[in-house]
Amino acid sequence: MKLHNEHVFVTGGAAGIGAAIVLDAVQQGAKVSFCDINVPAGKAYAAELTSQGFTVFFHQADVGEFESLKVAHEAIVKEFGPVTCLVNNAGISSNADPVEMTDDEWNNFFNVDLKSVWHTAKLVLPAMRSAKKGAIVNIASIHARMTHPKFFPYAAGKSGVIGLTRNLALDEGIHQIRTNAVSPGYTLTPLLEEWLAQRPENRTGAMAVQPMDRMAKTSEIAKVVTFLLSDDASFVNGADWIVDGGLSCRFA
Ligand SMILES: NC(=O)c1ccc[n+]([C@@H]2O[C@H](COP(=O)([O-])OP(=O)(O)OC[C@H]3O[C@@H](n4cnc5c(N)ncnc54)[C@H](O)[C@@H]3O)[C@@H](O)[C@H]2O)c1
Repeated sequence: MKLHNEHVFVTGGAAGIGAAIVLDAVQQGAKVSFCDINVPAGKAYAAELTSQGFTVFFHQADVGEFESLKVAHEAIVKEFGPVTCLVNNAGISSNADPVEMTDDEWNNFFNVDLKSVWHTAKLVLPAMRSAKKGAIVNIASIHARMTHPKFFPYAAGKSGVIGLTRNLALDEGIHQIRTNAVSPGYTLTPLLEEWLAQRPENRTGAMAVQPMDRMAKTSEIAKVVTFLLSDDASFVNGADWIVDGGLSCRFA
């Protein structure tokens, strides 16, 4: 029960890594609110967890739009009180050619994958500062350090998430608010499955380099996130925890 008495807010909690974080956080005793653009999936997941006796609340939001996040934030605070732990998980992928990509595509992508991380912080930090306590985990990616051809917006966005994490750690540490990043490697989620299905060589190439001969289960990322949110990680601040089964140790 590492997160007893905490209000954990997870963005993009209806599927994939976010859903696993929601589950692990409720199992650790937290009240968990989550948002998603997929409203039917969010409602169904909240109903499923509620029927199992967990304290959970879903509100729709598009993290790419500040007004949408603000409405969701007001609703979750009304339900469970101020957010004490924030997980910025919602994200989309972007494969693009630097010549072909349009400004709109760039802006839409960065609104979701990077600007939202600032916007959620903007909403939850006032209460965390007053409480002199808080924890934020931002889901980045190993793409912040190494990447694939055509992934340039994604690699740039996730590098930005780590930069933002470092600064929040420096700026908010004085208020006893810790901010860390988690950088997953290949993790079996709908997002990854979509990419693996695009071309057979995506799957064969990805499997060929896995030191543990497998990809991560979403629960294996979630466990690290809830640890970083908890007081067990009380002096971990500004870190980027790589959870990739050893993939980034590989040379060439
Ligand atoms: N799966 C991987 O291998 C992997 C690896 C490294 C990093 N990541 C990162 O982990 C995070 C979660 O990825 P995933 O694989 O679970 O993705 P996913 O697509 O399987 O699930 C993402 C969830 O976020 C929601 N979402 C998407 N856009 C949203 C928006 N604008 N507002 C609110 N909700 C939104 C989706 O509806 C979905 O429920 C992302 O930030 C991703 O970049 C994933």
